[in-house]
Amino acid sequence: MILVTGGAGYIGSHAVVALLEEGFDVVIFDSLENGYIETVNALKTIEARGRIKGFIRGDLQNLRDVYSIFSRYKIEAVIHFAAYISVEESMKDPMKYYYNNLLGSLNLISAMLDYGIDKIVYSSTAAVYGSPNRVPIDEECPTSPINPYGQSKKMVEQILDDCDKAFGLRNVRLRYFNVAGADGLLRVGERHEPETHLIPNLIASACDSQETFNLYGDKYKTRDGTCIRDYVNVEDLADAHVLALKYLLDGGNSDYFNLGTSDGSSVKEVLAVCEQTIGKKIKTRLCEPRVGDPETLVADNKKAAKILGWKPKRSLEDSVRTAYEWHKKEKLA
Ligand SMILES: NC(=O)c1ccc[n+]([C@@H]2O[C@H](COP(=O)([O-])OP(=O)(O)OC[C@H]3O[C@@H](n4cnc5c(N)ncnc54)[C@H](O)[C@@H]3O)[C@@H](O)[C@H]2O)c1
Repeated sequence: MILVTGGAGYIGSHAVVALLEEGFDVVIFDSLENGYIETVNALKTIEARGRIKGFIRGDLQNLRDVYSIFSRYKIEAVIHFAAYISVEESMKDPMKYYYNNLLGSLNLISAMLDYGIDKIVYSSTAAVYGSPNRVPIDEECPTSPINPYGQSKKMVEQILDDCDKAFGLRNVRLRYFNVAGADGLLRVGERHEPETHLIPNLIASACDSQETFNLYGDKYKTRDGTCIRDYVNVEDLADAHVLALKYLLDGGNSDYFNLGTSDGSSVKEVLAVCEQTIGKKIKTRLCEPRVGDPETLVADNKKAAKILGWKPKRSLEDSVRTAYEWHKKEKLA
């Protein structure tokens, strides 16, 4: 049985779908602070080879909640998504991020060690690289986070590395770039409150004539002056988690991988794809660039291809289309 922390959230829920379809039984642990019971209920209705064996509402910061998982279920491996995710909020309230992302992970790891569970796939982020000095970013690029969110993720990576050396805790750390899109069958999708991600915000601006899209800076040294990011489809990302899990189950050593498409899109390019998909013009307001927004972040994904056999299959257009369909479905519901 696989424990998925943060399985009621955006990426975690898509990973649960992929796990069920691959025949894994799953236990979800989530506080529902930023996840949704509706998501858990939708996951429970999926008919696949694997089953949801349990949902525990609990907080990783509470050691008793964490131990209760392992005393109730026989867990074979863990996929750990649960964390706070806003860069901006982490700069205003770093302690909130260090407590949740660090202490939560420490509690989880210590319970795993006590129960003899030695396999974990960990959600890390491109934010561990900060403002990298080269693109595309491969895994040997120095890690130098520029905000407490990225720092908290880097610290957990370090703890996992140390626990592997000391206790044989085998781990795969997955550094995601910009995650986008929704489940192709619209069983789950992206819901963040507040939403800070580009594509859902563009869709919201397109669908609501009152909303203007804020474009932060158009004087970057890029092909059209706007920031370039690597948008990886959430179903492709979910598949990477299944591959990482199988890699560990097959005895693979601890490792870390960048998960992106190796292809960047500028804000203006994403905007154009959204306008074309939705068939509407998006009202845009040009704003000052945000402090600490790196010009270009694009992954080099060769290592994930070579070792995990992972190749993203879906395009930016696929991500925008499913995100838009999800947005429409949620509004109708
Ligand atoms: N969304 C992205 O583009 C992106 C990019 C890079 C990395 N990540 C990482 O992926 C992971 C998932 O991100 P997401 O976008 O799905 O976020 P999300 O907020 O949708 O999901 C996180 C889930 O974790 C739960 N959670 C948070 N703290 C918890 C705690 N202490 N105890 C129990 N549950 C808790 C929340 O309720 C939520 O359901 C995070 O670790 C994040 O750092 C996300």
